[in-house]
Amino acid sequence: MIYYPLSVLMLAGIRDILIISTPEDTPRFEKLFGDGSHLGLRFFYAVQERPGGLAQAFLVGESFIGQSPVALILGDNIFYGQDLMESLQEGMRLRSGGLIFGYRVKDPQRYGVVQFDEFGEVIDIEEKPSIPKSSYAVPGLYFYGPEVVEIARSLKPSLRGEVEITDVNRHYLREKKLRVRLLGAGLAWLDTGTFDAFQKASLFVQAIQERQGIQIACLEEIAYSLGYINKDALERLAECYAKNEYGDYLHSILLKSLALFPGNSYTP
Ligand code: G1P
Repeated sequence: MIYYPLSVLMLAGIRDILIISTPEDTPRFEKLFGDGSHLGLRFFYAVQERPGGLAQAFLVGESFIGQSPVALILGDNIFYGQDLMESLQEGMRLRSGGLIFGYRVKDPQRYGVVQFDEFGEVIDIEEKPSIPKSSYAVPGLYFYGPEVVEIARSLKPSLRGEVEITDVNRHYLREKKLRVRLLGAGLAWLDTGTFDAFQKASLFVQAIQERQGIQIACLEEIAYSLGYINKDALERLAECYAKNEYGDYLHSILLKSLALFPGNSYTP
């Protein structure tokens, strides 16, 4: 699952990535991804001792963030589609304040929900309201300035005992420093938080991959197309998967790039 959010961060041009997980799973991620250098990235790891809410990520990651703007993406969210790039670019231009997104869904009560006034201005965001005031849910992709650390520190846990990301967003909204960008139908946002949602996301990914003959969130391919790794490095990575479909796919990228762009980097 984590491949999907990692691919989004890579497409945004982010190369320093802090992976935060439970005490049990963090060492597993570390074993799987190492320091990220094989992808031309830098991975760091940190543990959230207890499930105390998403906004805690900014406290766990305080020294990693330092004085830089930061993006947070949730490990169970999938974003797919051409329209994503423009949103990511807007996020990467942000130096202070917040940028979040709104996406129309059938079951907004499962998410943070945006409330609009009669002019379409955002006036509030509610976390998992039983009676949602719109159909626009807030996906798990957030961009903030470095001041988000202090905002997270100032928050009190909600009734469910979590420091809510929605309270971070409300803080920015009160200060008139929050931009909410509505995502159109050209973009798929899927989450995998329930068995049903997970199965639907799998079917979506399978349908696209089989139809187009591509792999969604192939980190090696993205690293290669962004010029983070060269042909030899990709070849070495492909060798690690020599005997399976994924290895075949990586080899096919190499062959394609040799045929279409001899001596050049590959553009998908
Ligand atoms: C969290 C956030 C919620 C957001 C959702 C996106 O929910 O609290 O505001 O809409 O992620 O996936 P949770 O993962 O706690 O259900």
